[in-house]
Amino acid sequence: MIGTDIDKAAEYLKNGELVAIPTETVYGLAANAFDTQAVTKIFKAKNRPFFDPLIVHTHSIDTVHQWVENIPPQAIELANIFWPGPLTLVLRKKDTISDLVTAGNPTVAVRVPNHPLTLQLLSQLDFPLAAPSANPFGYVSPTTAQHVSDQLGDKIPYILEGGPSKVGIESTIISFAGPVPEILRLGGTSIEKIKQVIGDMEVNINQHSNPQAPGQTDSHYAPHARFVLGRVEDANVPVDNLVYTGAITFSRHIQLLAQENQMRLSENEDLDEAASNIFAAMRLLDKKGMKVIYAELMPDTGLGRAINDRLRRAAHIK
Ligand code: TXA
Ligand code: MG
Repeated sequence: MIGTDIDKAAEYLKNGELVAIPTETVYGLAANAFDTQAVTKIFKAKNRPFFDPLIVHTHSIDTVHQWVENIPPQAIELANIFWPGPLTLVLRKKDTISDLVTAGNPTVAVRVPNHPLTLQLLSQLDFPLAAPSANPFGYVSPTTAQHVSDQLGDKIPYILEGGPSKVGIESTIISFAGPVPEILRLGGTSIEKIKQVIGDMEVNINQHSNPQAPGQTDSHYAPHARFVLGRVEDANVPVDNLVYTGAITFSRHIQLLAQENQMRLSENEDLDEAASNIFAAMRLLDKKGMKVIYAELMPDTGLGRAINDRLRRAAHIK
């Protein structure tokens, strides 16, 4: 069921049930992070392998101290500036966080999401919420309640409706587990902005503390259609196939294709707007029955980098 009742969402969560929650990045599939049975339900509903760890969501940095050994000064600086917001910190964990949530890693990923309904929900609960993106494993992340309902509606008792996700791309993940800060996933907080606060850092988006973790593999974020990087004009598509051919561009109009087969992510070439549209565009082209989607890379700056990362993964290119 889709609804806006925070009390109802809280009741389900207290009873060990799953609730899909809106965030500014993408919708999450949430459970009580301290209830291993409830967390197990997340993996089952998504068909997610247990070796892929979950992000723990809370309403304030103050609670984070209860679960992690210490928060390095640079991590505190980032949290003060970017929370609530699209940034996830990976920190060395205490035993209060179960191995199920962290997939056996000695670290835990934490984030304060920037969505009024979810912040209110989190502050009403006396436990944090473990939540991956609310999509079946391997598919594109959902940015509306309807996206969640389309694919997981029969597996979740309640979907909290919070409107379309404003950022539209998952959080940036930065690890403080090693000697220097290391970006593990490009996302809704740009590298440029992070650099302004902590200076240089490592960017290691194809490496992982758990090398099997699929957030970092090339098969993630993929629509059902075959996904190809490049201009459709360069592909010599047979005329009969054009009706099943879709395209994603930054702002460019494509003469060759019907208007409804092409998704322009931002007419004004605004990368933040493009990020908020990318996953919905992939879903829409899938829904229209496209067999192949040609996607053009964005400028490689700001959120363009994170969008390009998702496009490359959808096309199985590292
Ligand atoms: O924006 C987001 O981060 C969304 C919303 C719902 O908060 N969540 C999200 O979760 O994207 P998920 O599970 O789809 O992606 C989480 C990523 C995974 O790639 C996982 O491997 C990584 O975070 N991760 C989680 N815990 C980690 C840890 N302890 N060390 C390294 N990576 C971790
Ligand atoms: Mg995900």
